[in-house]
Amino acid sequence: MKAIVLTKYGSADVLKLQDVEKPKPKEGEVLVKIHATAINDWDWCLMRGTPFYIRLLCGLLKPKIQIPGAEIAGQIEEVGHNVQQFQPGDMVYGDISECGFGGFAEYVCVPETALALKPECMSFVEAAALPHAAMLALQGLLEEGQLQPGQKVLINGAGGGVGTLGVQIAKSMGAIDVTGVDSSDKFDMMHSVGFVQTIDYTQKDFTQSQEKYDLILDTKTNRSIFQYLRVLNPQGTYVTVGGDTPRLFQVLFSKPIIHLFSKKRVSLVNLQPNKDLDYINKLFQAGGIKPVLDGPYRLSEVPEMIQYFGRGKHKGKVVING
Ligand SMILES: NC(=O)c1ccc[n+]([C@@H]2O[C@H](COP(=O)([O-])OP(=O)(O)OC[C@H]3O[C@@H](n4cnc5c(N)ncnc54)[C@H](OP(=O)(O)O)[C@@H]3O)[C@@H](O)[C@H]2O)c1
Repeated sequence: MKAIVLTKYGSADVLKLQDVEKPKPKEGEVLVKIHATAINDWDWCLMRGTPFYIRLLCGLLKPKIQIPGAEIAGQIEEVGHNVQQFQPGDMVYGDISECGFGGFAEYVCVPETALALKPECMSFVEAAALPHAAMLALQGLLEEGQLQPGQKVLINGAGGGVGTLGVQIAKSMGAIDVTGVDSSDKFDMMHSVGFVQTIDYTQKDFTQSQEKYDLILDTKTNRSIFQYLRVLNPQGTYVTVGGDTPRLFQVLFSKPIIHLFSKKRVSLVNLQPNKDLDYINKLFQAGGIKPVLDGPYRLSEVPEMIQYFGRGKHKGKVVING
């Protein structure tokens, strides 16, 4: 089968389209014929071996992950022993980042627990765009953020996967006023998915404004936590899904102190992959969520598309289909 293989850390030229052996499902695993996949932050970090914790997880000098790609949508071709939920022919999707990656290929074997059934009304490219970013947004807004109807929300880094899905999840939960912070070339697309206000981060620092928010969801975490606290309402919540590593440590270590002296809450999302895909399926079927798709591009284009993702110029989710 064809796959995008990572042999060493570096820039896009370390990724090569190669013929590799088609995998066989082990006990509890299914073989999925991949119809669509998507690029996300994992692939950008894995290709470069940075930030440093990536090397601690995935190989210090050389990547242990041979084929990157964390989000897949496809059809089950074969099931291993003791597979309970699925049978050949089932249409599935999921985030496979906790089971060795491998989405940039024609086939992958994964434990059945990493997958959910794809609703018929959801295309394969839509399904590939959802699992990772939708889980981060949902767990950030609802579990960590405890979003309530009528609240005023701001999403920082709003034009990518988490932001464009997050605004739709927030609106479905009754948030009235959702502000998105990103660069202005994404504003038309951001308004089309539900952002009421948009702020261009190259022109204005929202943490210096007089506007206050009940909930901030951050995909960039590129400022001190104390700057974010300035623009939270007295009982507001700041939730980060990721960003600059030193800033994330600052959130982690200052959290208990902030909770001791203030009613404001701060929190980090520790992603639980695929946990709420049933919720997303229902929301999708009810017309409450639709991913913004950048693409689809071809499997052979994955190296340059990872580079494109890293430059941040994509809108929504960068998707690949064949
Ligand atoms: N918590 C966990 O367990 C976990 C697991 C995996 C990943 N993650 C994290 O989840 C996040 C993924 O978010 P995503 O997929 O939505 O990312 P994304 O698609 O890259 O979107 C980020 C957006 O932020 C914009 N941006 C860049 N610099 C900015 C700035 N200074 N201020 C405001 N916006 C800015 C980018 O656009 P421009 O560059 O064009 O401006 C882009 O539109 C990452 O931080 C990743 O590390 C978390």
